[in-house]
Amino acid sequence: MKTILVTGANGYLASYCRMLNSDKFHWICMTRKDADLSDPESVKKFLETAKFDLCFHTAANATTALCEENPDLAHKINVESTQMIIDACRKQNARLIFSGTEQSFNGKVEHGPFQEDEPMNAVTVYGQNKAECEGLIESQLTDYVSLRYSWMMGLSFPGIKASPNIIANVMNALLHDKPTLFTCNEKRCMTYAKHLAEQFVQITELPTG
Ligand SMILES: NC(=O)c1ccc[n+]([C@@H]2O[C@H](COP(=O)([O-])OP(=O)(O)OC[C@H]3O[C@@H](n4cnc5c(N)ncnc54)[C@H](OP(=O)(O)O)[C@@H]3O)[C@@H](O)[C@H]2O)c1
Repeated sequence: MKTILVTGANGYLASYCRMLNSDKFHWICMTRKDADLSDPESVKKFLETAKFDLCFHTAANATTALCEENPDLAHKINVESTQMIIDACRKQNARLIFSGTEQSFNGKVEHGPFQEDEPMNAVTVYGQNKAECEGLIESQLTDYVSLRYSWMMGLSFPGIKASPNIIANVMNALLHDKPTLFTCNEKRCMTYAKHLAEQFVQITELPTG
Protein backbone atom coordinates (compact mmCIF):
# COMPACT_ATOMS: atom_id res chain seq x y z
CA MET A 1 0.00 0.00 0.00
CA LYS A 2 1.31 3.45 -0.93
CA THR A 3 1.92 6.09 1.71
CA ILE A 4 0.40 9.48 1.01
CA LEU A 5 1.20 12.67 2.87
CA VAL A 6 -1.72 15.09 2.90
CA THR A 7 -1.26 18.74 3.84
CA GLY A 8 -4.18 20.71 5.24
CA ALA A 9 -5.42 17.30 6.37
CA ASN A 10 -8.44 18.66 8.25
CA GLY A 11 -9.60 20.91 5.39
CA TYR A 12 -12.68 20.19 3.30
CA LEU A 13 -11.25 18.40 0.27
CA ALA A 14 -8.49 16.63 2.22
CA SER A 15 -10.84 15.25 4.87
CA TYR A 16 -13.40 14.20 2.23
CA CYS A 17 -10.74 12.37 0.18
CA ARG A 18 -9.35 10.77 3.33
CA MET A 19 -12.77 9.59 4.49
CA LEU A 20 -13.70 7.94 1.19
CA ASN A 21 -10.24 6.43 0.63
CA SER A 22 -9.08 5.62 4.16
CA ASP A 23 -8.27 1.99 3.24
CA LYS A 24 -6.68 2.74 -0.14
CA PHE A 25 -3.53 4.43 1.21
CA HIS A 26 -1.52 4.74 4.36
CA TRP A 27 -2.24 8.39 5.20
CA ILE A 28 0.21 10.75 6.91
CA CYS A 29 -1.61 13.90 7.97
CA MET A 30 0.02 17.31 8.15
CA THR A 31 -2.07 19.95 9.92
CA ARG A 32 -1.44 23.50 11.06
CA LYS A 33 -0.30 22.05 14.42
CA ASP A 34 2.49 20.13 12.67
CA ALA A 35 3.67 22.99 10.47
CA ASP A 36 2.42 26.50 9.81
CA LEU A 37 2.72 27.43 6.15
CA SER A 38 3.38 31.05 7.08
CA ASP A 39 6.73 29.71 8.33
CA PRO A 40 8.11 27.68 5.37
CA GLU A 41 11.04 26.47 7.51
CA SER A 42 8.56 24.66 9.79
CA VAL A 43 7.19 22.86 6.72
CA LYS A 44 10.72 21.88 5.69
CA LYS A 45 11.40 20.57 9.20
CA PHE A 46 8.23 18.47 9.32
CA LEU A 47 8.96 16.96 5.91
CA GLU A 48 12.52 15.98 6.84
CA THR A 49 11.27 13.01 8.84
CA ALA A 50 8.17 12.03 6.85
CA LYS A 51 8.52 9.23 4.29
CA PHE A 52 5.90 9.06 1.54
CA ASP A 53 5.24 7.94 -2.05
CA LEU A 54 2.70 10.64 -2.84
CA CYS A 55 1.90 14.08 -1.50
CA PHE A 56 -1.61 15.54 -1.75
CA HIS A 57 -0.98 19.23 -1.15
CA THR A 58 -4.21 20.99 -0.19
CA ALA A 59 -3.11 23.42 2.53
CA ALA A 60 -3.37 27.02 1.38
CA ASN A 61 -4.87 30.35 2.21
CA ALA A 62 -7.72 30.16 -0.26
CA THR A 63 -9.54 33.28 0.92
CA THR A 64 -9.21 35.68 -1.99
CA ALA A 65 -9.82 38.82 0.12
CA LEU A 66 -7.20 37.85 2.75
CA CYS A 67 -4.61 37.21 0.03
CA GLU A 68 -5.34 40.66 -1.47
CA GLU A 69 -4.97 42.30 1.98
CA ASN A 70 -1.63 40.69 2.75
CA PRO A 71 0.10 39.54 -0.45
CA ASP A 72 3.47 38.91 1.26
CA LEU A 73 1.93 36.57 3.80
CA ALA A 74 -0.15 34.90 1.07
CA HIS A 75 3.04 34.31 -0.94
CA LYS A 76 4.73 32.67 2.06
CA ILE A 77 1.76 30.40 2.75
CA ASN A 78 0.78 29.56 -0.81
CA VAL A 79 4.07 29.67 -2.73
CA GLU A 80 7.16 29.54 -0.48
CA SER A 81 5.78 26.64 1.56
CA THR A 82 4.83 24.84 -1.65
CA GLN A 83 8.49 25.14 -2.67
CA MET A 84 9.39 23.18 0.51
CA ILE A 85 6.93 20.50 -0.52
CA ILE A 86 8.40 20.38 -4.05
CA ASP A 87 11.90 19.98 -2.53
CA ALA A 88 10.72 17.08 -0.34
CA CYS A 89 8.95 15.36 -3.27
CA ARG A 90 12.07 15.68 -5.41
CA LYS A 91 14.29 14.22 -2.68
CA GLN A 92 11.95 11.28 -2.09
CA ASN A 93 10.95 10.69 -5.73
CA ALA A 94 7.39 11.19 -4.57
CA ARG A 95 4.52 12.20 -6.83
CA LEU A 96 2.90 15.56 -6.05
CA ILE A 97 -0.85 16.05 -6.42
CA PHE A 98 -1.28 19.82 -6.34
CA SER A 99 -4.49 21.74 -5.63
CA GLY A 100 -4.64 24.53 -8.16
CA THR A 101 -7.58 26.65 -9.20
CA GLU A 102 -9.57 27.84 -12.17
CA GLN A 103 -8.99 31.29 -10.66
CA SER A 104 -5.55 31.24 -12.26
CA PHE A 105 -7.49 32.04 -15.46
CA ASN A 106 -9.68 34.87 -14.12
CA GLY A 107 -7.66 37.56 -15.90
CA LYS A 108 -8.15 36.08 -19.37
CA VAL A 109 -9.81 38.55 -21.71
CA GLU A 110 -11.04 35.94 -24.16
CA HIS A 111 -13.71 33.43 -23.12
CA GLY A 112 -12.93 29.83 -22.16
CA PRO A 113 -12.92 26.90 -22.14
CA PHE A 114 -9.13 26.90 -22.24
CA GLN A 115 -6.72 24.16 -23.22
CA GLU A 116 -4.59 22.71 -20.41
CA ASP A 117 -1.42 24.24 -21.80
CA GLU A 118 -2.94 27.71 -22.32
CA PRO A 119 -0.89 30.37 -20.46
CA MET A 120 -2.62 31.38 -17.22
CA ASN A 121 -3.51 34.96 -16.33
CA ALA A 122 -4.88 35.84 -12.89
CA VAL A 123 -6.06 39.20 -11.57
CA THR A 124 -6.12 38.08 -7.92
CA VAL A 125 -3.15 37.41 -5.64
CA TYR A 126 -4.63 33.99 -4.82
CA GLY A 127 -4.90 33.03 -8.50
CA GLN A 128 -1.40 34.37 -9.15
CA ASN A 129 0.00 32.39 -6.19
CA LYS A 130 -1.48 29.16 -7.51
CA ALA A 131 -0.26 29.85 -11.06
CA GLU A 132 3.25 30.53 -9.71
CA CYS A 133 3.16 27.20 -7.84
CA GLU A 134 2.21 25.39 -11.03
CA GLY A 135 5.20 26.95 -12.77
CA LEU A 136 7.55 25.89 -9.95
CA ILE A 137 6.18 22.34 -9.99
CA GLU A 138 6.39 21.98 -13.75
CA SER A 139 9.98 23.24 -13.86
CA GLN A 140 11.28 21.13 -10.94
CA LEU A 141 9.34 17.87 -10.86
CA THR A 142 8.89 15.13 -13.41
CA ASP A 143 6.09 13.30 -11.58
CA TYR A 144 3.12 15.45 -10.62
CA VAL A 145 -0.55 16.16 -11.24
CA SER A 146 -1.78 19.75 -11.07
CA LEU A 147 -5.53 19.87 -10.53
CA ARG A 148 -7.32 23.11 -11.32
CA TYR A 149 -10.47 22.84 -9.26
CA SER A 150 -13.58 24.77 -10.05
CA TRP A 151 -15.83 25.80 -7.14
CA MET A 152 -16.07 22.63 -5.08
CA MET A 153 -19.58 22.45 -3.69
CA GLY A 154 -21.23 20.35 -1.05
CA LEU A 155 -22.61 20.45 2.47
CA SER A 156 -20.98 19.73 5.81
CA PHE A 157 -21.69 16.45 7.59
CA PRO A 158 -20.11 14.73 10.61
CA GLY A 159 -16.33 14.71 10.16
CA ILE A 160 -16.46 16.99 7.08
CA LYS A 161 -16.66 20.76 7.25
CA ALA A 162 -17.48 22.23 3.84
CA SER A 163 -15.53 25.33 2.85
CA PRO A 164 -17.75 28.23 1.74
CA ASN A 165 -19.61 27.45 -1.49
CA ILE A 166 -22.78 28.73 -3.09
CA ILE A 167 -24.93 25.75 -2.03
CA ALA A 168 -23.81 25.85 1.62
CA ASN A 169 -24.06 29.64 1.69
CA VAL A 170 -27.63 29.64 0.35
CA MET A 171 -28.65 26.81 2.72
CA ASN A 172 -27.21 28.69 5.71
CA ALA A 173 -28.97 31.89 4.67
CA LEU A 174 -32.28 30.01 4.46
CA LEU A 175 -31.80 28.01 7.66
CA HIS A 176 -30.85 31.03 9.73
CA ASP A 177 -33.19 33.42 7.93
CA LYS A 178 -30.23 35.71 7.45
CA PRO A 179 -30.01 38.36 4.72
CA THR A 180 -26.89 37.47 2.77
CA LEU A 181 -24.87 39.21 0.10
CA PHE A 182 -23.97 37.23 -3.02
CA THR A 183 -21.71 38.27 -5.85
CA CYS A 184 -23.64 38.54 -9.09
CA ASN A 185 -22.28 38.22 -12.63
CA GLU A 186 -19.62 35.79 -11.41
CA LYS A 187 -19.21 33.05 -13.97
CA ARG A 188 -17.64 29.93 -12.45
CA CYS A 189 -17.74 26.22 -12.97
CA MET A 190 -18.89 24.02 -10.12
CA THR A 191 -17.92 20.50 -9.10
CA TYR A 192 -19.55 18.28 -6.52
CA ALA A 193 -16.73 17.69 -4.02
CA LYS A 194 -17.98 14.13 -3.48
CA HIS A 195 -17.09 13.32 -7.10
CA LEU A 196 -13.50 14.41 -6.50
CA ALA A 197 -13.27 12.24 -3.38
CA GLU A 198 -14.84 9.24 -5.15
CA GLN A 199 -12.35 9.45 -8.02
CA PHE A 200 -9.34 10.24 -5.89
CA VAL A 201 -7.48 6.93 -6.49
CA GLN A 202 -7.79 7.32 -10.29
CA ILE A 203 -6.71 10.96 -9.98
CA THR A 204 -3.51 9.91 -8.24
CA GLU A 205 -2.78 7.68 -11.25
CA LEU A 206 -3.27 10.31 -13.96
CA PRO A 207 -0.37 10.90 -16.33
CA THR A 208 2.00 13.68 -15.32
CA GLY A 209 0.75 17.16 -16.11
N1 LIG B 1 -12.93 24.57 -2.24
C1 LIG B 1 -12.83 25.10 -3.46
O1 LIG B 1 -13.83 25.48 -4.08
C2 LIG B 1 -11.48 25.21 -4.13
C3 LIG B 1 -11.42 25.68 -5.44
C4 LIG B 1 -10.18 25.79 -6.06
C5 LIG B 1 -9.03 25.42 -5.39
N2 LIG B 1 -9.11 25.00 -4.10
C6 LIG B 1 -7.86 24.64 -3.42
O2 LIG B 1 -8.02 23.36 -2.85
C7 LIG B 1 -7.32 23.26 -1.63
C8 LIG B 1 -8.24 22.74 -0.55
O3 LIG B 1 -9.39 23.56 -0.48
P1 LIG B 1 -10.48 23.36 0.66
O4 LIG B 1 -11.77 23.87 0.13
O5 LIG B 1 -10.39 21.97 1.18
O6 LIG B 1 -9.94 24.41 1.73
P2 LIG B 1 -10.01 24.40 3.33
O7 LIG B 1 -11.14 23.59 3.83
O8 LIG B 1 -9.95 25.84 3.72
O9 LIG B 1 -8.65 23.67 3.72
C9 LIG B 1 -7.42 24.31 3.67
C10 LIG B 1 -6.51 23.71 4.71
O10 LIG B 1 -5.30 24.47 4.70
C11 LIG B 1 -4.90 24.67 6.04
N3 LIG B 1 -4.13 25.90 6.19
C12 LIG B 1 -4.49 27.16 5.83
N4 LIG B 1 -3.53 28.03 6.18
C13 LIG B 1 -2.55 27.31 6.79
C14 LIG B 1 -1.32 27.64 7.38
N5 LIG B 1 -0.89 28.89 7.43
N6 LIG B 1 -0.55 26.64 7.89
C15 LIG B 1 -0.99 25.36 7.85
N7 LIG B 1 -2.15 24.98 7.31
C16 LIG B 1 -2.94 25.95 6.78
C17 LIG B 1 -6.20 24.79 6.83
O11 LIG B 1 -5.90 24.50 8.18
P3 LIG B 1 -6.96 24.77 9.36
O12 LIG B 1 -7.95 23.66 9.24
O13 LIG B 1 -6.14 24.71 10.60
O14 LIG B 1 -7.52 26.14 9.09
C18 LIG B 1 -7.08 23.77 6.13
O15 LIG B 1 -6.96 22.52 6.74
C19 LIG B 1 -6.74 24.64 -1.36
O16 LIG B 1 -5.39 24.63 -1.76
C20 LIG B 1 -7.55 25.56 -2.25
O17 LIG B 1 -6.80 26.67 -2.65
C21 LIG B 1 -10.31 24.88 -3.46
